Amino acid sequence: MKKENISSKSIFVFDAFGTLFKTSEIEAELQNIAKDKTDNLLSIWRKKQLEYTWLRNQMNKYAPFSQVTKEALGYSMRVNGLKNPRIFDLLLPIYDSPNLIGGVREALNSFQEKTICILSNGTRSMLENGVQKTGIVNLVNHIFSVDDIGIYKPRKEVYQMTLDQLNVPASEVLFFSSNQWDVSGASIFGLDAVWVNRNNEVREGLPFGNVLEIRDLDEL
Ligand code: 2OP
Repeated sequence: MKKENISSKSIFVFDAFGTLFKTSEIEAELQNIAKDKTDNLLSIWRKKQLEYTWLRNQMNKYAPFSQVTKEALGYSMRVNGLKNPRIFDLLLPIYDSPNLIGGVREALNSFQEKTICILSNGTRSMLENGVQKTGIVNLVNHIFSVDDIGIYKPRKEVYQMTLDQLNVPASEVLFFSSNQWDVSGASIFGLDAVWVNRNNEVREGLPFGNVLEIRDLDEL
């Protein structure tokens, strides 16, 4: 995928969590409760949340992302020996009422000649709360949640759902994600993809299709 080819795409589809919305925020109260376990609590939470979605895909046992997110947090608390239920109140809003990553609004604004979509494992209510609360609702044309089919990314049915709903061929779509497993899934499915590698991550040993790597959205 070359930067020059981007202008030929009419539809930009964005992953939500980690790409548009933050996946962690550390408040003083959380730090007071979790102390030196704070970073581990957050990192195991996110890892398990994703792992549980993939395992549920394997088992054909879909449960909404809100439930999976809470169950993963419960596990991370147990592993870290943390029992204070305030942790749920402090952390679940990161997904139920998400905040934008810096620079996202400006980027979406600059892409306004494109059709802008969100395709996420998040529930519809998480995504709708997010766009409302962060004031990007007018910058987004369509929100697609896996809730509608009960299957999580990176299964191909999810990327296919976007094409079906928009009634467009894959060649019109450019898919953006900061999550490498998602970039892998989308590009192997057949979407040209942009890996927004803000944290300078090392490339995973996964199969990839046509992918452009950038450091942040403002590069486009
Ligand atoms: C998403 O928003 C979970 O980050 C993933 O689809």
